[in-house]
Amino acid sequence: MKMSKALILDNLNEIKKIDKSGMLSFCVNAAKHCKNAVHIAEKVAVNYPKPKSIIVAGMGGSAIGGELLKDWARDTLTIPVEVCREYMLPAHADKGTLTFVVSYSGETEETLSIFLDAIKRNCMVVCISSGGTLLDFADKMKIPSVHILTGIPPRVALPYLFIPMLTILAKLGLVKGVKTEISEAATVLKQVCSENVPEKPLKENFSKRLAADICGTVPVVYGFGFYSSVTQRFKQQFNENSKVPSKWEVFPELNHNEIVGWEKAGKLASHFSAIIIRDKNEPEHIKQRIEATKELLSGKVAGIHEVWSRGEGKLAKMLSTSIIGDFTSVYLAILRGVDPTPVKTISILKDRIAKTELKERIVSELQSLVKKGKRC
Ligand code: F6R
Repeated sequence: MKMSKALILDNLNEIKKIDKSGMLSFCVNAAKHCKNAVHIAEKVAVNYPKPKSIIVAGMGGSAIGGELLKDWARDTLTIPVEVCREYMLPAHADKGTLTFVVSYSGETEETLSIFLDAIKRNCMVVCISSGGTLLDFADKMKIPSVHILTGIPPRVALPYLFIPMLTILAKLGLVKGVKTEISEAATVLKQVCSENVPEKPLKENFSKRLAADICGTVPVVYGFGFYSSVTQRFKQQFNENSKVPSKWEVFPELNHNEIVGWEKAGKLASHFSAIIIRDKNEPEHIKQRIEATKELLSGKVAGIHEVWSRGEGKLAKMLSTSIIGDFTSVYLAILRGVDPTPVKTISILKDRIAKTELKERIVSELQSLVKKGKRC
């Protein structure tokens, strides 16, 4: 007989059986990881002058921290921040560009290619990684690097891939109030996590309920403003943890194309669930758009759900919503009987790509730069 959703999600043994590598324990300890990330980054000496632009280069779970940074800094930082998920940096990148090269494994082909490109262009490089080829060469070239803990999936390492960038920007005098924001975010995260731990039964656990409600549908996540990165993170977590397709869009842009897609979707729409990121202080014009969009979707999609941010500071608001995506995606995986940790398809693809000669060429170019005594 099939177990009910509440029975599955409230059964700690069942959770442990499916979440074999303990993905949930990382979610539960998110606040602690944020604080640890600050300590690690504080030890890194970065003696660069003020940059004229910032680029965060990375892929997948290593790139999303760059999106969070971009959203967080948008209203206060007066230099541009760009996220680069490519093999080469944009044409404007030069010695005035602070380039965070982020790869959890330190082995990602695209990121190594960017690393080489950044060095050739004399960018001010800072690496964030747990090791691999990236840290090997960064250390040889005396490039400032944040060495983060090994042995966890990149997406789980988000606090370590994101928070150090904030700490380093603060060290360079580019942003203010980082410590206060991180401290508030950690307090809020601790509270939100305690409300969503596996021990909290479904009826009192927002993430479990959300996972149960959207189970069997494609989650469509809508956000706005500085929640754009969070919206994207939800989608990625549904893909990698729950192993389901998902999509994300942001207001106001989604009002100019996305909504027409539901017009004649008919029965198809009932296979989707909408999740909308909300903020008690959201601007009136965004609130009106959200309410109007909810009316348009109502009765079409399987359900409309809202995730309200917590806290007062931007960082607390962003992380308190993002963590709900993490929990929900893991609970959804458990409901579907899939282990949230392995990402078999990414591994298969990476193995296939590893057979190309590009990475070898990058490594050999890096080696010759080291031989020539290339230093940061
Ligand atoms: C997330 C994940 C991927 C990787 C991406 C890049 O858990 O597995 O999205 O983050 O393939 O790899 P890294 O982060 O090692 O550079």
